Amino acid sequence: MHVSIVASSPPSQADAFQWSDESDCQVMAERLAEGLRPLLSQGQTVYIELHGTLGAGKTTFTRHLLRALGVEGRIKSPSYAVVEPHEAAGGIQVHHFDFYRFNDPQEWEDAGFRDLFAAPGLKLAEWPEQAAGLLPRPDLRLHLTPVSDTRRDVRLQALTPTGEALRKGIQ
Ligand SMILES: Nc1ncnc2c1ncn2[C@@H]1O[C@H](COP(=O)(O)OP(=O)(O)O)[C@@H](O)[C@H]1O
Ligand SMILES: [Mg+2]
Repeated sequence: MHVSIVASSPPSQADAFQWSDESDCQVMAERLAEGLRPLLSQGQTVYIELHGTLGAGKTTFTRHLLRALGVEGRIKSPSYAVVEPHEAAGGIQVHHFDFYRFNDPQEWEDAGFRDLFAAPGLKLAEWPEQAAGLLPRPDLRLHLTPVSDTRRDVRLQALTPTGEALRKGIQ
Protein backbone atom coordinates (compact mmCIF):
# COMPACT_ATOMS: atom_id res chain seq x y z
CA MET A 1 0.00 0.00 0.00
CA HIS A 2 1.57 3.25 -1.14
CA VAL A 3 1.10 6.33 1.07
CA SER A 4 1.84 9.96 0.32
CA ILE A 5 0.85 13.11 2.16
CA VAL A 6 -1.16 15.35 -0.18
CA ALA A 7 -2.24 18.01 2.26
CA SER A 8 -1.19 18.79 5.77
CA SER A 9 -2.87 22.01 6.86
CA PRO A 10 -5.43 21.66 9.65
CA PRO A 11 -8.33 21.26 10.23
CA SER A 12 -8.73 18.79 7.41
CA GLN A 13 -5.69 16.62 6.82
CA ALA A 14 -5.70 14.13 3.98
CA ASP A 15 -3.54 11.24 2.87
CA ALA A 16 -3.46 9.63 -0.54
CA PHE A 17 -3.03 5.87 -0.90
CA GLN A 18 -3.29 3.42 -3.71
CA TRP A 19 -4.73 -0.07 -3.33
CA SER A 20 -3.45 -2.45 -6.04
CA ASP A 21 -6.15 -4.97 -5.22
CA GLU A 22 -8.70 -5.94 -2.59
CA SER A 23 -6.02 -7.29 -0.25
CA ASP A 24 -4.73 -3.70 0.18
CA CYS A 25 -8.28 -2.63 0.98
CA GLN A 26 -8.37 -5.36 3.64
CA VAL A 27 -4.99 -4.27 5.10
CA MET A 28 -6.19 -0.69 5.50
CA ALA A 29 -9.51 -1.81 7.01
CA GLU A 30 -7.61 -3.96 9.51
CA ARG A 31 -5.32 -1.07 10.46
CA LEU A 32 -8.30 1.21 10.95
CA ALA A 33 -9.99 -1.45 13.10
CA GLU A 34 -6.91 -1.51 15.37
CA GLY A 35 -7.31 2.22 15.99
CA LEU A 36 -11.08 2.04 16.40
CA ARG A 37 -11.20 -0.83 18.90
CA PRO A 38 -9.99 1.08 21.99
CA LEU A 39 -12.13 4.14 21.19
CA LEU A 40 -15.27 2.09 20.69
CA SER A 41 -14.58 -0.02 23.80
CA GLN A 42 -14.56 3.25 25.79
CA GLY A 43 -18.04 4.06 24.49
CA GLN A 44 -17.05 6.70 21.95
CA THR A 45 -19.15 7.58 18.90
CA VAL A 46 -17.19 7.44 15.63
CA TYR A 47 -18.64 8.33 12.23
CA ILE A 48 -16.92 7.48 8.93
CA GLU A 49 -18.18 8.60 5.50
CA LEU A 50 -17.47 6.52 2.40
CA HIS A 51 -17.44 8.37 -0.93
CA GLY A 52 -17.08 6.89 -4.42
CA THR A 53 -19.01 5.69 -7.46
CA LEU A 54 -20.97 2.43 -7.63
CA GLY A 55 -18.52 -0.46 -7.43
CA ALA A 56 -15.70 1.68 -6.02
CA GLY A 57 -15.43 -0.57 -2.96
CA LYS A 58 -17.34 1.22 -0.16
CA THR A 59 -19.23 -1.90 0.92
CA THR A 60 -16.16 -4.11 0.44
CA PHE A 61 -14.09 -1.87 2.72
CA THR A 62 -16.90 -1.84 5.29
CA ARG A 63 -17.10 -5.66 5.23
CA HIS A 64 -13.36 -6.01 5.88
CA LEU A 65 -13.57 -3.41 8.65
CA LEU A 66 -16.54 -5.07 10.35
CA ARG A 67 -14.92 -8.52 10.11
CA ALA A 68 -11.78 -7.11 11.71
CA LEU A 69 -13.94 -5.71 14.52
CA GLY A 70 -15.38 -9.17 15.11
CA VAL A 71 -18.73 -8.96 13.32
CA GLU A 72 -19.78 -12.52 12.47
CA GLY A 73 -22.21 -13.89 9.88
CA ARG A 74 -23.28 -12.35 6.61
CA ILE A 75 -22.64 -8.62 6.18
CA LYS A 76 -25.39 -7.49 3.82
CA SER A 77 -25.25 -4.29 1.80
CA PRO A 78 -27.86 -2.00 3.36
CA SER A 79 -29.08 -0.50 0.06
CA TYR A 80 -32.75 -1.39 0.51
CA ALA A 81 -33.02 -1.03 4.28
CA VAL A 82 -30.85 2.17 4.38
CA VAL A 83 -29.28 0.87 7.59
CA GLU A 84 -27.97 -2.51 8.75
CA PRO A 85 -27.15 -2.88 12.45
CA HIS A 86 -24.30 -5.15 13.57
CA GLU A 87 -22.73 -6.16 16.83
CA ALA A 88 -18.94 -6.26 16.95
CA ALA A 89 -16.76 -7.99 19.55
CA GLY A 90 -17.30 -6.75 23.10
CA GLY A 91 -20.91 -5.73 22.38
CA ILE A 92 -19.89 -2.71 20.28
CA GLN A 93 -22.79 -1.38 18.20
CA VAL A 94 -22.14 -0.74 14.51
CA HIS A 95 -24.58 0.90 12.07
CA HIS A 96 -23.84 0.64 8.36
CA PHE A 97 -25.90 3.14 6.30
CA ASP A 98 -26.36 3.37 2.55
CA PHE A 99 -28.24 6.55 1.60
CA TYR A 100 -28.28 5.78 -2.16
CA ARG A 101 -32.09 5.47 -2.15
CA PHE A 102 -32.72 7.94 0.65
CA ASN A 103 -34.91 10.79 -0.58
CA ASP A 104 -37.30 11.65 2.23
CA PRO A 105 -35.90 13.85 5.02
CA GLN A 106 -38.92 12.92 7.15
CA GLU A 107 -37.54 9.38 7.20
CA TRP A 108 -34.53 10.75 9.08
CA GLU A 109 -36.77 11.54 12.05
CA ASP A 110 -39.23 8.67 11.63
CA ALA A 111 -36.55 5.99 11.43
CA GLY A 112 -34.72 7.42 14.46
CA PHE A 113 -31.48 8.10 12.57
CA ARG A 114 -30.79 11.20 14.67
CA ASP A 115 -30.74 9.06 17.84
CA LEU A 116 -28.63 6.39 16.15
CA PHE A 117 -25.98 8.93 15.18
CA ALA A 118 -25.91 10.34 18.72
CA ALA A 119 -25.49 6.93 20.37
CA PRO A 120 -22.12 5.33 21.16
CA GLY A 121 -20.63 3.03 18.56
CA LEU A 122 -19.41 3.04 14.98
CA LYS A 123 -21.43 4.60 12.13
CA LEU A 124 -20.44 4.13 8.50
CA ALA A 125 -22.29 5.82 5.64
CA GLU A 126 -22.21 5.16 1.91
CA TRP A 127 -23.65 7.96 -0.29
CA PRO A 128 -23.74 10.52 2.54
CA GLU A 129 -24.31 13.19 -0.18
CA GLN A 130 -27.91 11.90 -0.34
CA ALA A 131 -28.52 12.93 3.27
CA ALA A 132 -26.50 16.14 3.22
CA GLY A 133 -27.66 18.62 5.86
CA LEU A 134 -28.91 15.86 8.14
CA LEU A 135 -25.71 13.98 8.86
CA PRO A 136 -23.26 15.16 11.53
CA ARG A 137 -19.66 16.07 10.74
CA PRO A 138 -17.74 12.85 10.09
CA ASP A 139 -14.53 11.96 11.91
CA LEU A 140 -13.11 10.48 8.72
CA ARG A 141 -13.93 10.62 5.03
CA LEU A 142 -12.71 7.90 2.71
CA HIS A 143 -12.82 8.72 -1.03
CA LEU A 144 -12.41 5.78 -3.42
CA THR A 145 -11.70 6.21 -7.13
CA PRO A 146 -11.42 3.15 -9.40
CA VAL A 147 -8.33 3.23 -11.62
CA SER A 148 -8.70 -0.30 -13.05
CA ASP A 149 -10.63 -3.49 -12.21
CA THR A 150 -8.65 -3.91 -9.01
CA ARG A 151 -6.71 -0.67 -8.48
CA ARG A 152 -8.18 2.16 -6.40
CA ASP A 153 -6.97 5.67 -5.65
CA VAL A 154 -7.82 6.30 -2.02
CA ARG A 155 -7.99 9.56 -0.13
CA LEU A 156 -8.44 9.62 3.61
CA GLN A 157 -9.46 12.88 5.21
CA ALA A 158 -9.70 13.59 8.96
CA LEU A 159 -12.20 16.21 10.11
CA THR A 160 -12.04 15.88 13.91
CA PRO A 161 -9.31 15.17 16.48
CA THR A 162 -10.63 11.59 16.73
CA GLY A 163 -10.40 11.26 12.95
CA GLU A 164 -6.92 12.71 12.98
CA ALA A 165 -5.75 10.13 15.54
CA LEU A 166 -7.27 7.34 13.45
CA ARG A 167 -5.69 8.69 10.25
CA LYS A 168 -2.24 8.79 11.84
CA GLY A 169 -2.69 5.26 13.17
CA ILE A 170 -3.18 3.85 9.68
CA GLN A 171 0.30 4.75 8.41
N1 LIG B 1 -8.85 -2.77 -4.56
C1 LIG B 1 -10.14 -3.05 -4.34
N2 LIG B 1 -10.77 -2.55 -3.25
C2 LIG B 1 -12.08 -2.80 -3.04
N3 LIG B 1 -12.86 -3.53 -3.85
C3 LIG B 1 -12.29 -4.05 -4.95
C4 LIG B 1 -10.92 -3.84 -5.25
N4 LIG B 1 -10.62 -4.46 -6.40
C5 LIG B 1 -11.74 -5.04 -6.82
N5 LIG B 1 -12.76 -4.81 -5.96
C6 LIG B 1 -14.13 -5.31 -6.19
O1 LIG B 1 -14.93 -4.19 -6.53
C7 LIG B 1 -16.27 -4.39 -6.05
C8 LIG B 1 -16.66 -3.24 -5.18
O2 LIG B 1 -18.04 -3.35 -4.92
P1 LIG B 1 -18.74 -2.65 -3.68
O3 LIG B 1 -17.85 -2.75 -2.48
O4 LIG B 1 -20.10 -3.21 -3.57
O5 LIG B 1 -18.78 -1.12 -4.17
P2 LIG B 1 -19.62 0.09 -3.64
O6 LIG B 1 -20.17 -0.25 -2.28
O7 LIG B 1 -18.66 1.25 -3.60
O8 LIG B 1 -20.70 0.33 -4.65
C9 LIG B 1 -16.25 -5.71 -5.30
O9 LIG B 1 -16.71 -6.73 -6.18
C10 LIG B 1 -14.78 -5.93 -4.96
O10 LIG B 1 -14.44 -7.30 -4.85
MG1 LIG C 1 -22.15 -0.25 -1.56
